[in-house]
Amino acid sequence: MRDVIIACDFPGTEECLRFLEVFRGRQPYLKIGMELFYAAGPSLVRKLKEGGYSIFLVLKLHDIPNTVRSAMRVLAGLGVDMVNVHAAGTRAMMEAAREGLGSGTKLLAVTQLTSTDEARMREELLITRPLEEVVLHYARNAAEAGLDGVVCSPLEAAGVHGACGEGFLTVTPGIRFATDAVGDQVRVTTPAIARELGSDYIVVGRPITRAADPVAAWEQCRKDFLTE
Ligand code: C5P
Repeated sequence: MRDVIIACDFPGTEECLRFLEVFRGRQPYLKIGMELFYAAGPSLVRKLKEGGYSIFLVLKLHDIPNTVRSAMRVLAGLGVDMVNVHAAGTRAMMEAAREGLGSGTKLLAVTQLTSTDEARMREELLITRPLEEVVLHYARNAAEAGLDGVVCSPLEAAGVHGACGEGFLTVTPGIRFATDAVGDQVRVTTPAIARELGSDYIVVGRPITRAADPVAAWEQCRKDFLTE
């Protein structure tokens, strides 16, 4: 089930619902991240689920296995469609996350944040292997722990599928239309290129949320990403 996920990076419930008003009658897949979840809480998530939206809740859990297991039990009760954890929390933590969440919700891992480069990994974190090797190793750990996929760059999607199988999901941000400003993203691809590279889901924020016509931008994204 490939799809376009709109990153709802808004400061609160009101701004999010106002943005969604123009989508009336359509139900795009939504990403709710830390900013919106910490401001709006579980009640917004429940309301959107009742409205029929699919939701990727991006809280990137990273704690001791027992704490993550318990937290995942709570998130499972929200009925969201996908959630995520940091692969750096170890295989034991990811297995605990899977146990807590059950099998009804997809569980993804963040491998290395794209804000971390190889120099910082080496000098601050003392991780001396090449970035790509670390990403693929963490993806394999996630697959072995029973997760459904990883969040990664579209440029890494083929490598992840090669290492973990075609059915292992790659959810990829860093998407821009060819005509867009890149903004703070560094390595970007278009929806059509993300499709060619094998991404399963693309996460798109500003190219849709700041478009003059967000519905048209979302439809264009879906057409470019989903049409073979
Ligand atoms: O506005 P834009 O399309 O850049 O938004 C991309 C979304 O994907 C944001 O919600 C951002 O937090 C998220 N993201 C990202 N890069 C990552 C992981 C998540 O841009 N490596």
